[in-house]
Amino acid sequence: MTLPVSKASASAETILLAENDIVGRQSEPRQDSYSLGRERASPSVFRRFLRGAVHFLAYNFILKRGGTRTMSAAGFHLALRPTVFHPKLFLTSEFFADFIAKLDLSGKRVADVGTGSGILALAAARAGARQVIALDINPAAAEATTGNARANGFGERVSAVCSNLMSALPAGPLFDVIVSNPPFFPGEPRDIADRAWCAGPGYRDIALLFEQARQRLTPTGRMYVLFSSDSDLYLLGRLIAKAGFRARRIADRSILIEALIIYELRPE
Ligand SMILES: C[S@@+](CC[C@H](N)C(=O)[O-])C[C@H]1O[C@@H](n2cnc3c(N)ncnc32)[C@H](O)[C@@H]1O
Repeated sequence: MTLPVSKASASAETILLAENDIVGRQSEPRQDSYSLGRERASPSVFRRFLRGAVHFLAYNFILKRGGTRTMSAAGFHLALRPTVFHPKLFLTSEFFADFIAKLDLSGKRVADVGTGSGILALAAARAGARQVIALDINPAAAEATTGNARANGFGERVSAVCSNLMSALPAGPLFDVIVSNPPFFPGEPRDIADRAWCAGPGYRDIALLFEQARQRLTPTGRMYVLFSSDSDLYLLGRLIAKAGFRARRIADRSILIEALIIYELRPE
């Protein structure tokens, strides 16, 4: 498939993963049709402080660090340019890559929105995807993904595009599966590196993600998206419902300060 994208570059029925219960205390979830599940009303002061400290350390010592770094993550050799999200130090990337490895993507067309190093796009190609388009607003991420795809033997099937969400692609049923590990905290990003973490007040920078994905997914397609238990799951649930998706929680992993949750979205 040739896609009319601005810059050259990169389906699945779900497997049913057993849901792991989230470990840790949960306050009363909000009960309404937009709920994404057992979300907290809002994180405690302590958790917000911890979150701030992790963000400060991650931003200053990881996201902003200069120099290209190489690493192994999820079985791929990856080179990271400055400002590109580090898939080894943050646990979301390998958790999501492991999840994708269990999908049967044989012959499917896949998009990865917010690709960073390209780790999820490569995982989709390794799971059999016929073609993967990897998109990121950070040009350094798109360039890193192109290099990482070639270095791992997936250069023919993975193409990277610098794009704000999916806006570089026309609307239409282009993809069988769309995956995304977006920035899932609603703060103002300080710079392009910080856009990996902060999605703007009220999720401004990813607000159109679900609508754009819905317009580019086949009617039987699926979207998989990862959030944190500390994300504003109520607001995200509203955006998902407004785009015409039904969400279900399909995999969890608890880590020290939060739980990582993958949702499966299917068109209504
Ligand atoms: C949490 S990182 C995930 C990177 C990679 N998918 C992974 O799992 O390691 C989020 C990524 O989304 C990108 N991003 C943020 N806002 C975006 C937007 N509006 N359009 C496209 N990409 C965006 C960031 O640049 C960053 O690479």
